Amino acid sequence: MNSIDKLKNSEPYLWINPNKIKSEKSLASQKLNYRDMKEAEERLKRFAPLLVKFYPELGNSNGTIDSELSKITKMIPNLNNLYIKGDHSLPVSGSIKARGGFYAVFVIVEKILSEHGLAIPSIVNKSTKDINSLFASRSLVVGSTGNLGLSIGLMGRAFGFCVTVHMSSDAKAWKKEKLRNIGVTVVEYESDYSAACQAARDSASENRGIFFIDDENSIDLFLGYSAAASMLSNQLKQKNISVDVKHPLFVYIPCGVGGAPGGITFGLKNIFGDNVHCFFAEPVEAPAMMLGLVTGKNSLVSVKDIGLTMDTCADGLAVGTASELVAKMMSTMLDGCFTVEDKTMLKYMAELYDTEGIKIEPSAAAGFAGPEYLVNSVKGKNYLVQNKIDPQHITHVVWTTGGSMEPEEEFQKNYKFAPQFHLTSDELGINIIKNNRY
Ligand SMILES: Cc1ncc(COP(=O)(O)O)c(C=O)c1O
Repeated sequence: MNSIDKLKNSEPYLWINPNKIKSEKSLASQKLNYRDMKEAEERLKRFAPLLVKFYPELGNSNGTIDSELSKITKMIPNLNNLYIKGDHSLPVSGSIKARGGFYAVFVIVEKILSEHGLAIPSIVNKSTKDINSLFASRSLVVGSTGNLGLSIGLMGRAFGFCVTVHMSSDAKAWKKEKLRNIGVTVVEYESDYSAACQAARDSASENRGIFFIDDENSIDLFLGYSAAASMLSNQLKQKNISVDVKHPLFVYIPCGVGGAPGGITFGLKNIFGDNVHCFFAEPVEAPAMMLGLVTGKNSLVSVKDIGLTMDTCADGLAVGTASELVAKMMSTMLDGCFTVEDKTMLKYMAELYDTEGIKIEPSAAAGFAGPEYLVNSVKGKNYLVQNKIDPQHITHVVWTTGGSMEPEEEFQKNYKFAPQFHLTSDELGINIIKNNRY
């Protein structure tokens, strides 16, 4: 069965990218480069004192928005060197989308300040009220499955912007409520994420002066996400974890439209080159990026075209069409993608809580299938052999992308549903080599 058939049948599937080339060559052909990434990091540093002003709890990290890198020892006992990059508890808005979302707001803030002949240092000592008055007549518009809307909503409102979030039918009620409570206008759609994005785009184009943050095609979002790579690199150094040809880094990141995992992959490839292997995790019913890359059609194909429903408990990943910007960039850079069933995400979500006491949302659990695929499946094992990689020497990083803002009752609802899915790897549909678990 070929890759498209596997996707059509909603079968959990690992796809190794046959079009990947040496990272140096791939990076040289991209429209963004290392300097762009470094400029993004500098912009984040410029905004740090303002963030401490808006969110005093960021004082401890001097206004840096980053999460912990934590070793996970109990969840998959036989797997050495498993870490999570805990964006589920990223400060202020509790998801990976905050990295890009905040950054995109910062770009707009600097644009408006420059219209007034101002820059960040000239407003840091102003009162929040005075800062807000600079932006109160300006509007931000975004389409979202939920978490991007939350991050733009929270940061946009902190600066005093009017914010409108167009939300797809997959967006959770609690995310809409949270936004309304902070004064964001939420427009709800019966349709999917692409339609919500299009409606947001249309509404902004009718009105000059509105800033539309385009999740499907934003360089600013992408560069904001990419800044996570240097942060991870520093954390690995602090933990004395080497990344080199003999000790590769394997990173597994949940993927919706592709901006967040794409930006991080771009950043990591710039830092670690071919010694980092990046894989995107998508729901079996919404493998937008894998379909775009497998067919070479990038954003010109939807999972609906192959009969999939986009129906998944992973609301953040419920996307039918990949970002053109990201799919193009990933086509020669990304190592692979894999798909995950809802029951598998719920199983990992529950197991992470049972063994480590960490609460994440279902989308954020998709990456945990990665080590299983790479180390235990026939295809994964072949990949390691071809790349002369000793599985014992891999550092695995599963990116846990959202959760800390989720209300307790929402977590409990998913958790109570999950135990019936405490399945064996065979039952999860992964082609395991028996008696050779890790
Ligand atoms: C929790 C979570 N993880 C991962 C993603 C994927 O990010 P992207 O849509 O940029 O691929 C999202 C998107 O909203 C998300 O909410």
